[in-house]
Amino acid sequence: MTTPPGKLHKRKGALKSCIYGTHPAKILMTGESRPAAGPRGLPADMKDLIQKWNRKDLISIEALSREEIEVIHELARRFKAILDTDPDSLPSLRGKTILNLFIEPSTRTRIAFEIASKRLGAEVTLVERVASSLTKGESLRDTAQVVEALQADVVVLRHSAAGSPLYLGGILKVPVINAGDGAHEHPTQALLDTFTMREKFGTSLDGKKVTILGDILFSRVARSNIYALQKLGAEVTLSGPSTLVPDRFRQLGCQVELNLKSALADADVVMLLRIQHERQTSTHFPSLGEYKSLYGLNQERASWLKPNAIIMHPGPVNRGVELDSSLADGDRSVILQQVANGVYTRMAVIYLCLMAGRPEESSK
Ligand code: CP
Repeated sequence: MTTPPGKLHKRKGALKSCIYGTHPAKILMTGESRPAAGPRGLPADMKDLIQKWNRKDLISIEALSREEIEVIHELARRFKAILDTDPDSLPSLRGKTILNLFIEPSTRTRIAFEIASKRLGAEVTLVERVASSLTKGESLRDTAQVVEALQADVVVLRHSAAGSPLYLGGILKVPVINAGDGAHEHPTQALLDTFTMREKFGTSLDGKKVTILGDILFSRVARSNIYALQKLGAEVTLSGPSTLVPDRFRQLGCQVELNLKSALADADVVMLLRIQHERQTSTHFPSLGEYKSLYGLNQERASWLKPNAIIMHPGPVNRGVELDSSLADGDRSVILQQVANGVYTRMAVIYLCLMAGRPEESSK
């Protein structure tokens, strides 16, 4: 990507709405003025924030505490503010190499990780399945050894096999960040989604009601969001065809509401999910036309939502199936804000994982 530093982030009025300084959690009360720089270049409160994180890898939201999620959000908020006002004062990862190992297709996640790495001054190398020796039968373990030999500093892995980032993280000494593993988790998606919700609502998500509608069964985005939202105090309702919204999801603490009108009526957020054809092993409903007619969000169904409810989608959107184009592009949609926030949240994750256990390096 050739966007010059800082340009992507000049979004009118966006900064003010992203300040959630009223949040009760102490780590979010860092204020808007830049504190004095600490001994090694970073503001002292930012160093304190970074030192709250001690994980080498980001594998799942399930494993994180509320405080860890809030540390990522707060650092992302700080990075966003700095990029809008004073990009030269960002901490630098100059000399580090981020390896984007994308063994499954991706547009948003891959590009956001790439831009995030470059914003922090790191080098980025992309390996995709078609261009890798994985197509020649090389194992993930051997690929990992190649990564070590080439001295990458961080590996960002997207893979169709659930558990592959955990496996790689256990082998490699360098941080491994899960960019989506099969139908397991997509932690950075949930981090950017909840960050976006907090921007929209101006404070915490305590007591907010979020309805996730669509293919829950095969969705790693749904799993990560269920964990993140509940840890942040929101209530989650799942809806869609019963074949794709099994009752067992109640065990995760969610409500399952198959009546669409009831599922939408008191939601503050409706998050649409596409049908994950690539992961389905059998047909779970008769046709996409049937899905659209029964569950697609159109203008009439959107009128069941509260006036201030927002519409989210992790993308890619199948326009005219799970979501009408007029809604995807309408005032309630925050889909592009989600994409933009993917850069800041991933900057925070990369930086925290790299600095875990070596705060002395968290300098400019
Ligand atoms: N939301 C998401 O993961 O999109 P991509 O597959 O384009 O990365």
